[in-house]
Amino acid sequence: PGCVNEVRGMLGYSGTWKGHRVTVHGSGMGMPSLSIYANELMTEYGAQTLIRIGSCGAMQTDVKVRDIVVAMTATTLSTPSRGIMRELNFAPCADWSLLRAAVTAAEATGTATHVGGIYSSDVFYDERPDLTEQMTRHGILAVEMEAAELYTLAARHGRRALAVLTVSDHLLTGEALPSADRERSFSDMVEIALHAAFD
Ligand code: HPA
Repeated sequence: PGCVNEVRGMLGYSGTWKGHRVTVHGSGMGMPSLSIYANELMTEYGAQTLIRIGSCGAMQTDVKVRDIVVAMTATTLSTPSRGIMRELNFAPCADWSLLRAAVTAAEATGTATHVGGIYSSDVFYDERPDLTEQMTRHGILAVEMEAAELYTLAARHGRRALAVLTVSDHLLTGEALPSADRERSFSDMVEIALHAAFD
């Protein structure tokens, strides 16, 4: 593998896995940042399958720290695509073939795996406990900050997208994973993503 990007410190590496060409690239935090990298990867480099791996905060009592969440849908207050959607409440959803393959690969790791809706927030330090309560009540599994725009952009460009997340913290209990554990969970998610994309 070789480094293909280091502009603004956002590293990207390209190589192969079992003969398939793969790029691992930072997205930055939040949907505006992800949108730039995802758009350019699709339109200028022909990326066909985009899988976000990252962390999330659990919003249900049966979703525990270290568990895996595979995001079927991503609810939002807004995305960078809001301007073109206007009055439309578009429903960003994962690619079914990727979702199915990722769930099989995630379950094979032995780590508890949850599949369902997540929330893509614009802020990490949230000031709307009432909204969190509504989402918990409506079965949203976890919160992160990128998937809804990734799914929307993939839909727009006819590409496949998925988000595979490790629970790094818990909104209901306040528990949080140490950063060494977070890093370790990334290798599991990379394996799951590679199997989902190419198996
Ligand atoms: N909020 C938003 N994004 C996150 C969180 C959170 O609690 N945990 C990991 N990513």
